[in-house]
Amino acid sequence: MLTIKNLKTHYATQKGTVKAVDGVSFGIAENEVFGLAGESGCGKSTLIRTLMRLTPDSAKTTADELSFKGRDLPTLSEKVYREEILWQEISLVIQSAMNALNPVYRVGDQIIEAIQAHTDMGNAEAADRVAKLFDAVGLQAGLMKNYPHELSGGMRQRAMIAMSLALSPGLIIMDEPTTGLDVLVQERILRNIKEIRRASETSISILLITHDISVIAEMSDRIGIMYAGRMMERADAMELFHDTYHPYTLGLKNAFPSIKAMDRELISIPGSPPNLIGDIPGCVFAERCPFAIPECDETRPPDLEVKPGHFVACIRTEHVEDFRQRAGDKRTWQSSRSAN
Ligand SMILES: Nc1ncnc2c1ncn2[C@@H]1O[C@H](COP(=O)(O)OP(=O)(O)O)[C@@H](O)[C@H]1O
Ligand SMILES: [Mg+2]
Repeated sequence: MLTIKNLKTHYATQKGTVKAVDGVSFGIAENEVFGLAGESGCGKSTLIRTLMRLTPDSAKTTADELSFKGRDLPTLSEKVYREEILWQEISLVIQSAMNALNPVYRVGDQIIEAIQAHTDMGNAEAADRVAKLFDAVGLQAGLMKNYPHELSGGMRQRAMIAMSLALSPGLIIMDEPTTGLDVLVQERILRNIKEIRRASETSISILLITHDISVIAEMSDRIGIMYAGRMMERADAMELFHDTYHPYTLGLKNAFPSIKAMDRELISIPGSPPNLIGDIPGCVFAERCPFAIPECDETRPPDLEVKPGHFVACIRTEHVEDFRQRAGDKRTWQSSRSAN
């Protein structure tokens, strides 16, 4: 459904070129949830802004392929993109629904308006559709009459999800959809999303973006792990967690409690992501990687397919058994260059 090959989005700034997304490839199949995880600043939002044509003029995008349902996205005119793709085929849920909803309009009216801008539905029919959408996301229809500030954060996020569903798009992009909400509210919203997909007559694919690896693990069919503008590893969700190859993914697994047994000590990866300005000829993770060798700094690791559908950007995959054993030990991580 969505194919992304060697996508690059670089920002021109006074300090130099920020390589926010630097050669990322993945695809999303029909009816699939693809979870994209990575720490803050690794280029997740830039990636989706690129897909949604929301990047500023300072951004330059290139790709070997960027297509949706067989249509080449970059060559579509602004008019065709707005009329045929945006909201109808690809919709967006962002983290802060307060900024996405217009504060001076009732939430129901905003969604009704969005529906009427793209269809010839009358007022009553559109209002009825919105009431059904509210019901699907667990909001009482009466709340349609409220203004955004009258709703709690969780309710606004539900309204945002209702809006994203309004025109039955094939793909919904969710950027940190539950980040910042109470854990119980998060749980309920995620459960809701699952129910909506199950009940939907049309197939719904989701590109779920979050730094929270437990949300990704719970929701995704396939997962991609991004770091410093590049894709480190991508695979089927179960496979990624149980047959991890990339040292960065091994490190992430250590750092999150819900993936591992509760009595284990949390180990974080020493150091911080590299500056995205300038050229990193080798692996972007080498600085923090306890398993890096001089060769890792020299050439960019290719996307190696270690098993069907499981891609790893690391030149040392033949040592993975050893890495897995050592990754659980705190001392291992203190041996990287950035820790010393
Ligand atoms: N408009 C912009 N101009 C210049 N640099 C930007 C701009 N937007 C984001 N960046 C930089 O691009 C990198 C990736 O940011 P972003 O895509 O927001 O990552 P994430 O969503 O993973 O936190 C960061 O280094 C950020 O500072
Ligand atoms: Mg972001």
